[in-house]
Amino acid sequence: MGVKELTLFFIIASLTFSLYFFPIRFTRPITGYNPIIKTPILKSEKQYPVSFAYLISASAGDSEKLKRLLLALYHPANYYLIHIDSGAPEVEHEEMIEFVSGQPVFAQVGNVWIVGKPNLVTYRGPTMLATTLHAMSMLLRTCNWDWFINLSASDYPLVTQDDLIDAFSEVPRDLNFIQHSSRLGWKLTKRGKPIIIDPGLYGANKSEIWWVIKQRTLPTAFKLYTGSAWTILSRSFSEYCVVGWDNLPRTLLLYYTNFVSSPEGYFQTLICNSEDYKNTTVNHDLHYIAWDTPPKQHPRTLGIKDYKKIVMSHRPFARKFKLDDPVLDKIDRDLLGRHGRSHFGYGGWCSKSDKMRKCLFLHGERYGQLKPGRGSRRLRALLTKNLSPVNFSKRQCR
Ligand SMILES: *[C@@H]1O[C@H](CO)[C@@H](O)[C@H](O)[C@H]1NC(C)=O
Ligand SMILES: *[C@@H]1O[C@H](CO)[C@@H](O)[C@H](O)[C@H]1NC(C)=O
Ligand SMILES: *[C@@H]1O[C@H](CO)[C@@H](O)[C@H](O)[C@H]1NC(C)=O
Ligand SMILES: *[C@@H]1O[C@H](CO)[C@@H](O)[C@H](O)[C@H]1NC(C)=O
Repeated sequence: MGVKELTLFFIIASLTFSLYFFPIRFTRPITGYNPIIKTPILKSEKQYPVSFAYLISASAGDSEKLKRLLLALYHPANYYLIHIDSGAPEVEHEEMIEFVSGQPVFAQVGNVWIVGKPNLVTYRGPTMLATTLHAMSMLLRTCNWDWFINLSASDYPLVTQDDLIDAFSEVPRDLNFIQHSSRLGWKLTKRGKPIIIDPGLYGANKSEIWWVIKQRTLPTAFKLYTGSAWTILSRSFSEYCVVGWDNLPRTLLLYYTNFVSSPEGYFQTLICNSEDYKNTTVNHDLHYIAWDTPPKQHPRTLGIKDYKKIVMSHRPFARKFKLDDPVLDKIDRDLLGRHGRSHFGYGGWCSKSDKMRKCLFLHGERYGQLKPGRGSRRLRALLTKNLSPVNFSKRQCR
């Protein structure tokens, strides 16, 4: 073969090869995706209408909160990925592994995982964002779900998972719950201009972000948006973030590497600057978060005096709570139908008639059965308001 033929052969071969691998599977949302790992329970004929993939992030000292949250959130239809900051002591990692492997239901369904190679996460640094994207890609590769939800160990659900699944069953699967705004106000100069470096990207030990003295100008190639770091993302948008078929997700990721509090801007800026996705946002984070007036660095810790407002908000999640605060007991009892620390929340798969409340009858008739309650009605009311054509289009990116 001469050089010419060889070149030609090479071009044809690589073309065929790239066509074969051209990510058609990824550009088609949801349905075209084949999970690599199938959990045994999915063989059941009955299916839940929708499912969620949770990332629960924790850092040093969060073990007890994390265990309680995990049991309150657990449902066989969903997937749970736990990330414990690599800066947390080794015993805490081991304690969590022991806890997860000690739950017979988790083992039976196989839908709870712990990130084996955790990241070092710096508060307000891009390593937070990297951890979220890391989790997304792991969950995309391993299982089939409709929405990705990012929580921390200080969050708590206000509805049962049956309620959540039921309320979301009629929501179009391509919608993203991202609270966003282009009115940055003080953030324009306090966030857009400073340059930071996150030592967690290259250092082995935990340390704070540090600020570069020089500032940069505001971007002109795209428009900056900001909003809540708490989001519920569609599978399609999650795929776009991780394997983006145009370059925007990567360009913005690199830009946000030096941005203070990148989790409050990356997904907002990305979705609002993307032609394909900018019309898919519901401008709401579905979280109850209370701020002091004027707002401080961190939101207020919620207590029993907030209970009524929490319920009236109709939101499915709230933050932040102290470990074993009495209001959590009230939420467990009145909203989640959970009657003990070691029990799961109420649901068709694990109902009151199950005397031991061990919920080990997954292969029976109960799998696929939903028993939504008042929580679902509250959440549906909130969703209906936000999805009403007028509100929905009025609150798109601008
Ligand atoms: C990092 O932490 C370890 C354990 O605490 C310590 O032995 C080591 O000296 C630290 N390294 C640096 C560069 O600070
Ligand atoms: C995801 O969750 C963590 C909770 O620990 C939070 O700090 C972070 O800002 C969230 N958002 C993103 C985009 O990473
Ligand atoms: C998004 O909405 C805007 C305004 O309604 C419209 O002009 C645009 O074509 C829509 N984009 C897509 C991709 O649907
Ligand atoms: C639109 O949102 C507002 C404020 O949340 C709400 O009061 C109103 O009822 C919503 N509109 C519709 C048609 O649901």
